[in-house]
Amino acid sequence: MNYSKKYLKEANKFRSSNSSCSGAVCWENPSNIALIKYWGKKGDQLPQNPSLSFTLSNSITKTRVKYNYNESFRNSHISFLVNGEKNKSFEERISKYINKLLMFFPYLKFTELEIDTKNNFPHSAGMASSASAFSALAFCLTDIEYQLLSIKERKNEFFAKASFISRLGSGSAARSAYGGTVLWGKTELIRNSSDEVATPVKVHEVFNDYRDLVLIVDSKSKEISSTAGHELMNNNPYQKVRYKQACQNLEQLMDLMRIGNTKGFSEIVEYEALSLHAMMMTSSPGNLLVKPNTLSVIRKIRKFRADRSIPVAFTLDAGANVHILFPGNHSDDVMKLVKDELLIFCPDREYILNEVGSGPKKIS
Ligand code: PMV
Repeated sequence: MNYSKKYLKEANKFRSSNSSCSGAVCWENPSNIALIKYWGKKGDQLPQNPSLSFTLSNSITKTRVKYNYNESFRNSHISFLVNGEKNKSFEERISKYINKLLMFFPYLKFTELEIDTKNNFPHSAGMASSASAFSALAFCLTDIEYQLLSIKERKNEFFAKASFISRLGSGSAARSAYGGTVLWGKTELIRNSSDEVATPVKVHEVFNDYRDLVLIVDSKSKEISSTAGHELMNNNPYQKVRYKQACQNLEQLMDLMRIGNTKGFSEIVEYEALSLHAMMMTSSPGNLLVKPNTLSVIRKIRKFRADRSIPVAFTLDAGANVHILFPGNHSDDVMKLVKDELLIFCPDREYILNEVGSGPKKIS
């Protein structure tokens, strides 16, 4: 299926059922943590390799959009608040995004929008907030389109379109459209998988009960934006090998996750995290995003796994903070490890605990 073609065709036929109309929508959408990493893109926000993630339960962006559609308006007007305040850099990014969406959502030309968005996790946490932020906004904008066109709820189609629209803001946001384990990117392993939208995948139940504990080793924002990082992959001498390796890791990881192999899962997930950072280090200029405390935590986690035979694994985003992944039934042991041995590496003894979450929620 060519989603872009389908949505452009629908957009060309756009006719609202009302000449003016107003209302409000609100969505709470989660962030996600990649197990197989997306790093390197092509075309318009398309991934160079498929990626796989857990959707998180507690790291949420709540976005409310008030809209006022009127066919006599000639230019859309947007006001934008982040955590109750004006934010110039977000505003610029969102305006660019909304302009890009005009070809898929022609209604935006005739609509005033008041966007009010809040994260329940601190921006300073250094956790990827763009996935939940773009996902929540994309769900609101898709919802408004459905209301203006009086489209009856067609769940699968709504979620596919919202995932497509999310992707145009931030690639990883495409995966936040669904709960559980989510794939984004074309692969022969999953029928109907696509570079344009994400797809939820079924895994062994042990992985539906995983935890992700993020240790805030460094609360400063990232030294390099992910947009710049993806771009650097275009000249990375190892790019082809990396894209092939990601596909092989995905195939192995999906097999392990189907049969509930937590030990094998830990090995592949850590290998992916280190490969992502290897790509950052070998780009030109090279970026070193891990900190001494990141390495100390990683060593402790590996030692704990070896000593206790508990399948705890680390993964990393494009930053220094460490995500610890483990099955829920080992929570007591892992929490003891965190409190006794790992929080000393976090300047504010700060951490965020997530379960694998159930995905976006519409708030009425
Ligand atoms: O969605 P972006 O453009 O912020 O890129 C996300 C990149 C990583 O978080 C490092 C990996 C991933 O797959 O989420």
